[in-house]
Amino acid sequence: MTPTPSMSRPRRVLLTGAAGHIGTTLREHLRGHYDLLRLSDLPAALAGLPPAAAGEELYPADLTDPAALRGATQGMDAVIHLGGIPDEDTYPVIRAVNMDGTANLLEAARLCGVRRVAFASSIHAVGYAPREPIGMDAPVRPDSFYGVSKVFGEALGRMYVDRYGLEFVAVRICSFLERPREARNLATWLSPRDAAQLFRRAIDAPGVTYLTVAGISANTRRWMNPDGWDVLGYEPEDNAEEYAAEVEHLISPLQSNAARFQGGIFTEPDYRGRAGDGS
Ligand SMILES: NC(=O)c1ccc[n+]([C@@H]2O[C@H](COP(=O)([O-])OP(=O)(O)OC[C@H]3O[C@@H](n4cnc5c(N)ncnc54)[C@H](O)[C@@H]3O)[C@@H](O)[C@H]2O)c1
Repeated sequence: MTPTPSMSRPRRVLLTGAAGHIGTTLREHLRGHYDLLRLSDLPAALAGLPPAAAGEELYPADLTDPAALRGATQGMDAVIHLGGIPDEDTYPVIRAVNMDGTANLLEAARLCGVRRVAFASSIHAVGYAPREPIGMDAPVRPDSFYGVSKVFGEALGRMYVDRYGLEFVAVRICSFLERPREARNLATWLSPRDAAQLFRRAIDAPGVTYLTVAGISANTRRWMNPDGWDVLGYEPEDNAEEYAAEVEHLISPLQSNAARFQGGIFTEPDYRGRAGDGS
């Protein structure tokens, strides 16, 4: 099914990764904006969530299961795709969940006639970029298998746009946190309410075919240009600068990769993420 170009806001929205950190925040902020918010995640993760409120639906689906994703995308106008491994891991784990899982999701979206997908991409798609402002057209420089999976997701989205007429917005989330925790976050912070506004606009803004945007608040010290924010109408309300006095002394050792590149600790050759800490 080929989607028709977007004229009106979506009414039925699928949120993958709904039980996660960002998913929980989006659930709170998006409630009531759409006729239906279908909250999807692994069955065990969904089991820990509060029950569905009016206008919500809980829908267990493993991203590695194409049939389950076809069920999840059935009848949806838009998808916010947050589900996946949010850290470095072994290549087979990253491939299965972040790469194959995103491929399964996009194929299900195509088959079910979904119009728009907003994808949780990452700063780690450009993690080896130096710490100076870059545009969204800067060459990709992934810093990990995780970062490669986000580059893959963006490329796959581009292909579904050009080949099948899907609409796709990649949000390169930098650091989603309640508040900045270290000096790096003065550039990378994305506050919860700004994240909610950004993802809502990523699925609501009319006339978008393919777009990549920085997922950050209005940080004075940002390393990513606000390219495309105007297209979406995104106007961040928070600025990490308010926390500068608290965190600017919390820095990585100055000779380290972590202090030189945008990706921080992910750019250290021995960084293993979840695979390294046994989680
Ligand atoms: N938190 C950040 O600062 C940040 C930065 C950049 C990108 N992102 C991306 O944003 C998204 C959400 O991040 P988060 O911080 O909320 O992570 P999270 O780990 O809290 O949430 C991810 C969710 O995905 C689910 N999931 C994992 N494997 C799955 C599978 N096989 N099938 C279905 N669901 C599965 C998990 O159960 C979890 O609820 C991720 O894609 C992450 O890569 C996050």
